[in-house]
Amino acid sequence: MVENKRDWAVALKKIEQKMDWVADKTQDRIPYTTDSDGNYDDHSSLGKQIGEYYSLSWWTNGFYPGILWQMYQQTGKEKYRTYAEKIERKLALTLTSFEGLHHDVGFMFLLSSGADYRLTQNKQAFTRVIHAATILAGRFNLAGRFIRAWNDEGVDDRRGWTIIDSMMNIRLLYWATDLTHDPRFAQIAKAHAITVQNHFIREDGSVKHICEFNPETGEYVKSFGGQGLQHGSAWTRGQAWAIYGFTMSYEQTRHTEFLQTASKVADYFMQQMKGWSHVPVDFDQPNAVAYEDSSAAAIAASAFLELAAQQENPQMAQTYQKFGEQLLRQLLDDRCDFTTSCDNIVTHSSAAYHEEQHNYAIIYADFFLIEALQKLTDSSLSIWGQTKNSERI
Ligand code: GLY
Repeated sequence: MVENKRDWAVALKKIEQKMDWVADKTQDRIPYTTDSDGNYDDHSSLGKQIGEYYSLSWWTNGFYPGILWQMYQQTGKEKYRTYAEKIERKLALTLTSFEGLHHDVGFMFLLSSGADYRLTQNKQAFTRVIHAATILAGRFNLAGRFIRAWNDEGVDDRRGWTIIDSMMNIRLLYWATDLTHDPRFAQIAKAHAITVQNHFIREDGSVKHICEFNPETGEYVKSFGGQGLQHGSAWTRGQAWAIYGFTMSYEQTRHTEFLQTASKVADYFMQQMKGWSHVPVDFDQPNAVAYEDSSAAAIAASAFLELAAQQENPQMAQTYQKFGEQLLRQLLDDRCDFTTSCDNIVTHSSAAYHEEQHNYAIIYADFFLIEALQKLTDSSLSIWGQTKNSERI
């Protein structure tokens, strides 16, 4: 059992030791998951064209360089910087291919070039961040005041689609305003967050995954089920994105309704967890179904810590802090592998309820686990949350 700050530091030390080995093994590959032998895969050498599914523009490709920057911050070892910079040069290629891009340029570029610029003031990283933010801002639909999620890719008409995960990506826009002092980026982020708040949050505090608006008039059309159990259910990772995203938008704008929304979803999340020993893929899935999502647990852990820090009421702060720490403690006790038998740390994540594979390694679970531990040991890079360093560069 992890008990106090010193124990969080011990856990982080174990990760540091493992990452020292993993980073040399992985070099400048860009992993998403591990193969059956526990080796990381690579999303930068799959022989795919930019824009194809699982190619270089795959939405999770910022998380591994993000982990490298977390380790650079943690240890100061130059090798992390070297590997991360190589990956960033690969990711930069995606900026020239609009067709392959999507709203997840936030995840892709905040964690890679954004962290790079934060730590090293690398001018090329700065340019990439602003370039990505401009692409994200360009996805804003003026009539509906939302950021379009994906391109059509020849499948559906997705001109009016937006998704809850976007609440994390808009952090890139707030950053861009901080970096350039041009308010347009933050204006778009706030407008989008208000639209999401108005249409995604259900009465009980649960959150929809995908909503469609008429791209011409901006009118709300309908919602879709997405990666959870079914339409109308509560996909846990989406709930976690919402808690974190609204907390972060509150920090950036001080618009109190955002904090109230984050708390409403957080209260729903805590209530639902009473029925589960580990975070399921969907709170509405049958209890007998053992599909878990440790990534949702890790994201929620970091989100609850962030939410706790924003509370004026000490009791609420304590409740959210304790819950975040509990989620983290459970991951460390039951769902982490600190050995060298596999490249990943967190086990038992699931990308989607209806996928064939469940309870496996997914890269973003590791990123958020480390982020939460760094918050608890005052060493966080504060990518989403309020920074303790010099944010306004
Ligand atoms: N952005 C998609 C997901 O959370 O799986």
